[in-house]
Amino acid sequence: MGRTFGYAFFFRLGMDKKSNYEETFKIIKSVVESESDLIANMANTCAVLHERFNFLWTGFYLVKDEQLVLGPFQGPLACTRIPFGKGVCGSSWKEERTLVVEDVHQFPGHIACSSLSNSEIVVPLKNQDKVFAVLDIDSEDFGAFDSVDQEYLEKICHLLNK
Ligand code: SME
Repeated sequence: MGRTFGYAFFFRLGMDKKSNYEETFKIIKSVVESESDLIANMANTCAVLHERFNFLWTGFYLVKDEQLVLGPFQGPLACTRIPFGKGVCGSSWKEERTLVVEDVHQFPGHIACSSLSNSEIVVPLKNQDKVFAVLDIDSEDFGAFDSVDQEYLEKICHLLNK
């Protein structure tokens, strides 16, 4: 662990979640403002989120040929295709809304890409009211996500729709 990274990491451990999201939002905004490529912006967005929050898995799935197909991500190997309405991701796409799942083992049809995942949040990205991708984040902790995560992750996803 490098000295700079080490200090930054321990500083963040003392930060509350909202403050971390405030800073994270500013960083992602400045990065995506100067780049128009969606995939490049998705790649940097999940890198920043993953590193600053120590999630288990952070990534995007993109709507292609009536399925969700794996896009930029950080974390362990993941399933590559998710049908419409299946799992938390496919359900978020179908219902066109953010889904916060406190315990993935209780979610009917949950797709377990990693046995370590215990809670999950999925945020749909929309263009002219049509879902074109989802942001999916997994945590090893139960109940890791709440209305603060939902508020900021929706704001961050909104930055990518341009
Ligand atoms: N758990 C997701 C599948 C994607 S992985 O978590 C990366 C779901 O149920 O849709």
